[in-house]
Amino acid sequence: MKGTIAVLPGDGIGPEVIREASGILKAVEERFGHNFTLKYADIGAAAIVSTGNPFPESTEEICRSSDAILFGAIGALEYDNNPSATVRPEEGLLRMRMTLGLYANIRPVTTYDALISLSPLKEARIRNVDFVVYRELTGGIYFGKPSFVTDDYTEAVDTCTYNRNEITRVAQLAFEAAGKRTGKLTLVDKANVLSTSRLWRKTVQDMSAGYPEIKLEFMFVDNAAMQMILNPAQFDVILTENMFGDIITDEASVITGSIGLMPSASVGETVSLFEPIHGSYPQAAGKNSANPMASILSLAMMMEHSFGLAEESRTVREAVTEVIARGIVTEDLNPEKFFTTTEVGSAISDIILSKSLAE
Ligand code: IPM
Ligand code: MN
Repeated sequence: MKGTIAVLPGDGIGPEVIREASGILKAVEERFGHNFTLKYADIGAAAIVSTGNPFPESTEEICRSSDAILFGAIGALEYDNNPSATVRPEEGLLRMRMTLGLYANIRPVTTYDALISLSPLKEARIRNVDFVVYRELTGGIYFGKPSFVTDDYTEAVDTCTYNRNEITRVAQLAFEAAGKRTGKLTLVDKANVLSTSRLWRKTVQDMSAGYPEIKLEFMFVDNAAMQMILNPAQFDVILTENMFGDIITDEASVITGSIGLMPSASVGETVSLFEPIHGSYPQAAGKNSANPMASILSLAMMMEHSFGLAEESRTVREAVTEVIARGIVTEDLNPEKFFTTTEVGSAISDIILSKSLAE
């Protein structure tokens, strides 16, 4: 198979983890006889430096003309500590999500046997946890209008808006996903307080008549945050709005073992984007210490979603599982005994290639 992938390494540890993911892509090409063309483009702080724009038109053009997008991370300390910056790297990611219509962010939460004992959570609670979060990605308070802070910094406003269409399209994907899994869907909202959450609840309730085989449950987000630690195995598919999804998936990463392990797919109207859920972690940038697995697993999601390459996707996931089992992991997973970003990437790549030799 031939394909074109837009590669957007971004800021902080982004370039390092994306380098390893592209190494894995090479291994996949070699083993399975594919040929992907990579088109690199700037986004975030790097793009602000080169063009003044965190999502330049040239980058948008490359994204639109590709079959899939691989994204690293965005964000830089000089902006985090400067609330009055007029342009922010994160705007690049948000504009890209909006412009490309990437309305559903799919974040799977799985556990690895070899990591269960390293988790700060009790083993019995996290064994067999396997759920997926459908996070709405182009609405809500992230994109609310108006949104401003007054010139004298005495007051600020953010607005949270949703309409039925925005809820329906992501909910539809979540219902369908639940149908292919154990058939349980949990809507996480704050319908006891927020109007937008009541719209979510009503819309999803109305839709559930069309999915009689799906068991629909509702949970307030504060309770969901607690349940995720107390009894995460109760979840199958979680559907939630943009900001709640951002927060609970960072929390869910603790179940998996590290945020450095959590991939995601952002899908919608046209081309899909694959992004680790972690941020740019600027403190670790350039140190060859970041965990490349979230990016590599995002690539695995891309193989399946965008190219229909299920075996390739499974091979990458199995190679990651194998490397974890062998203890070849970065510091976030095992501070006692750890390997570098490049060592972990190479170990995964070697497994993918050695399997091909064995055949
Ligand atoms: C994520 C990130 C982004 C978000 C940031 C970098 C804007 O935290 O993908 O979860 O909040 O969506
Ligand atoms: Mn986040």
